Amino acid sequence: MPVGNKMFQGDFTKMGKMSNQSIINQRRIINGYDDGLLQASPLKHPWAREIFKGMQKNNWVAEEISFQKDKEQWESNELTEQERTCFLRALAFASNLDGLLVNSLSEVIKPHLTSPEVVLAVARQIYEECLHVDSYSCMVEAVGLDPEEVYGLYRKDKHLFYKNKRVLESMYKINRPDFSTKTTEGAKEFLEACSTNLIFEGIFFFSAFLVFYNFGRHNKMPGSKEMIQFINRDEDLHVRLFVNIINTIKEEQPEVWTDELKATLRQNIMAAVDMEIEWGVSCIGDGILGITPVMLTEYIQFIGDMRLESVGLEKAYKAPNPFPWLDEFTQNNMIETNFFEGTVREYQSGSLEW
Ligand SMILES: [Fe+2]
Ligand SMILES: [Fe+2]
Repeated sequence: MPVGNKMFQGDFTKMGKMSNQSIINQRRIINGYDDGLLQASPLKHPWAREIFKGMQKNNWVAEEISFQKDKEQWESNELTEQERTCFLRALAFASNLDGLLVNSLSEVIKPHLTSPEVVLAVARQIYEECLHVDSYSCMVEAVGLDPEEVYGLYRKDKHLFYKNKRVLESMYKINRPDFSTKTTEGAKEFLEACSTNLIFEGIFFFSAFLVFYNFGRHNKMPGSKEMIQFINRDEDLHVRLFVNIINTIKEEQPEVWTDELKATLRQNIMAAVDMEIEWGVSCIGDGILGITPVMLTEYIQFIGDMRLESVGLEKAYKAPNPFPWLDEFTQNNMIETNFFEGTVREYQSGSLEW
């Protein structure tokens, strides 16, 4: 048996008796009937197509963004030393994480999915992570940043090295030859891997986004801020996709949603909040352009609560959002939408009309 369930399951003498309806009835996010041919109609998981269509409307490329002002500001030393360091560290981690996501979604998550419409959405998500990786490199080149200072930072910065290491290890836990989603324990582990993905996209990016938006709010590095808006808009749909994946697996295989697993996921999310606060504070030091460590802590806790609630877990912090001005950059998109029930907004290709 190859990794996951992708193999042609047909036996010609029996296949003739199978109707589309019976195939749909056996369709599940994981452990469903899968002939490997991606028959995406009719749908079992219509939310996945809705998200896929939303992703198609979000087309953009980095070349649409002007980094001219960023380049001028960077070259004229308009940013303080502390601001430059903060900018580079936020950029380094965000680009590292997008690169990791291309691989982890392809190698760890997608091979186990047995719903064609969910596979399509995750495949598009993988493309978007590639787009993000590419956009960071376009930005590095256009602004004239030293790639060594961005991509090489994790080799010199102990904090970033260990953050990347922990992130990689937590995601690749199930990437072993004996792993299968067929057992209850395996399905639980897969659900935990999906929640790890939710942590990456729904928590870890957010202190970096905040840093770029805060620069933008002070008219610093405006092209970078715009690029992050495009990336953030993509990530909102990625978060919604994974919230739906997690909640649907819970419905389809209720035996996996034990108190023990709930406690593990809650613990993982809270540990990620702590880790992100630690990282964020190390980026902003004792404060930068109006953001203090206390405000940053509150914000990450606020985001953590939102992610806990989205997958049916109790809030842990009840922290308020200390940055209401973020709405002007995201149009409430990332903080107010009920990701499980919300509808996809109408986007235009290559524009940010929120
Ligand atoms: Fe991304
Ligand atoms: Fe993403």
